[in-house]
Amino acid sequence: MTVIAHKLKVRNVHFNFDKVEKHWILGSAVATHFINSMHIVFPEGEKFFIRSVRRFSKQVKSDELRTEINSFCGQEGVHSREHQRFWEVMEEQGLKPNLMADFLKLTAFSGKYSYENVLRNSLNKLQPQLGDKMALSVTTALEHYTAILANALFLEPMATNKNIAPQMLELLHWHAAEEIEHKAVCFDVLKEVDDSYILRISGMAHASLLLWGYLFAGQMYFIYQDKDKSIIRMPIELAVLMKTIVFGEIGRNLSKHLLLYFKKDFHPNDINDRHFLENFFKDKAYA
Ligand SMILES: [Fe+2]
Ligand SMILES: [Fe+2]
Repeated sequence: MTVIAHKLKVRNVHFNFDKVEKHWILGSAVATHFINSMHIVFPEGEKFFIRSVRRFSKQVKSDELRTEINSFCGQEGVHSREHQRFWEVMEEQGLKPNLMADFLKLTAFSGKYSYENVLRNSLNKLQPQLGDKMALSVTTALEHYTAILANALFLEPMATNKNIAPQMLELLHWHAAEEIEHKAVCFDVLKEVDDSYILRISGMAHASLLLWGYLFAGQMYFIYQDKDKSIIRMPIELAVLMKTIVFGEIGRNLSKHLLLYFKKDFHPNDINDRHFLENFFKDKAYA
């Protein structure tokens, strides 16, 4: 496989979230709150990615990869900030995002007995750096998830301004484009630090549990907080979401691309989808 070097660019974009309706995807509380959950999970998750990869920056031999780590951290920092800026809108909508964010921080990341700290500290005691390598492997797996979610979003025919508030769709597409742009950085660092297949796959097991567990917990939490949801409409909204996500184009693309991660010789650039980001950025002033 030929690996083409592309320089990553940190785009310091500020989105305008004025006039975003409470149910900004298809007028559906169920669909909206699944993505609202991402507004909470992504910022803390991205801070975790930055911590995990920075820990190995000095160990990386190639200057080019070290530069990419810096740009990766820059891009994730802007993603984290822009998703977090939307919390203000969610607060005005009565969704109490800070409570969910505190729960996520305490149990998944910064709390003394959080998933991250318990896993890292216990493995580091077992073997020096093993916990840090596992955190990097979890990050690499989550980066695979964000890259394949990005790919699925660009392929999804329902992802249009008609179905999704335009400013929110642009936020999602911008984030998706940069996820595709930097999808190989953590993978290349992990490969250089420790090329163990078991380590890579164990990271995927933890990543899957964390990602889907907290995304669904967040969705349930926001549905609970939402005083304007229609209980009668919710089963229909759930059926539409299942049809679109689980059994539709997104579900098919996600499962196909997820399985590739288990190939022993997999590399993120095996999925050829750079054209999505080139297409997206071609008419953007901030590109
Ligand atoms: Fe990101
Ligand atoms: Fe990322």
